[in-house]
Amino acid sequence: MSTNSEVESIVQRIYEKYREFDDGDVATYIPELAKADAAHFGICLATVDGSVFRAGDWEHEFTIQSICKPFAFQMALEEFGRDTTLRHVGVEPSGDAFNSIELDPKTMRPFNPMINAGAIAISSLIKKSPVESGIRGFVDKMQMAAGRPLRIDQDVLASETDTGNRNRAIAYLMLNCGIIDGAVGETLHQYFSQCSLLVNCMDLAMMAATLANMGMNPVSGQQVFDFQFIKDVLSVMFTCGLYDHAGEWAYRVGLPAKSGVSGGILAVVNRQLGIAVYSPKLDSKGNSVRGILACKALANELGLHAFEFTNVGSNFMQAMMQPRDWAK
Ligand code: DON
Repeated sequence: MSTNSEVESIVQRIYEKYREFDDGDVATYIPELAKADAAHFGICLATVDGSVFRAGDWEHEFTIQSICKPFAFQMALEEFGRDTTLRHVGVEPSGDAFNSIELDPKTMRPFNPMINAGAIAISSLIKKSPVESGIRGFVDKMQMAAGRPLRIDQDVLASETDTGNRNRAIAYLMLNCGIIDGAVGETLHQYFSQCSLLVNCMDLAMMAATLANMGMNPVSGQQVFDFQFIKDVLSVMFTCGLYDHAGEWAYRVGLPAKSGVSGGILAVVNRQLGIAVYSPKLDSKGNSVRGILACKALANELGLHAFEFTNVGSNFMQAMMQPRDWAK
């Protein structure tokens, strides 16, 4: 296993290696996101024992965008259980773009909760009346996972509300098919607000570490998420978290993860650590270019791929290495 100072220098080296890398384009379809400074690049790792490793612009805040989706899915599972939640959304990769106006033709549900259709269906479930109380509930959970107060970026929220007609089309398709209820405006306000939460790399790494740590924030010790549903969330992140890049990601990086159009990527090394990278320039599939490169390099150098035999830091491997009765 790598020591703390080795991890620190690996994170720094990966940051230096990709800092000048300039491919991709900042998202512009939400006009407010186009204002992002393309030079920003931050990395943060947070372990389940509370250590943190960071480099570059890890403190710079950006909106969480689609990285809200796994957490909203977790909240729906906690509130409604598997059967009800899965009546509204499937768990199949769509192989299509995140904003596709489509439902699974076999089930007439959104393919999964990581694409816009599925996330809007989840927002419809977890919204409350009045709508601001459901948004408050989401922000509260995210604060507990991050371990600090968070707020919504009102300019991004207004910008997305003004221009989000594609999401409106998806929502009305789902209303027509009986997936969501008639409070479409409230559902979309819940969804757009979730996406507009301001976070930095350290927040995302801590949220990922909370998932890795069976739902307990490793620094505060607070049980944020019900651990019985974390495996549901991590499985769907593994197969669907990077949209139509999900197969390539699973093959090359091998970690449950979620990307967002503002340039964040969050990845979870189960029982070990959380990873966050931020860099706003995106590839054609809407994933951060430097984010993918940095995660690939971290997974390779630290042996983090879920099926990597050198992934020996896991609790499971440690338990396996203890003498056991049957092995005597
Ligand atoms: O719904 C949208 O278009 C955005 N609020 C979120 C999309 C997003 O982050 C997709 N991720 N790559």
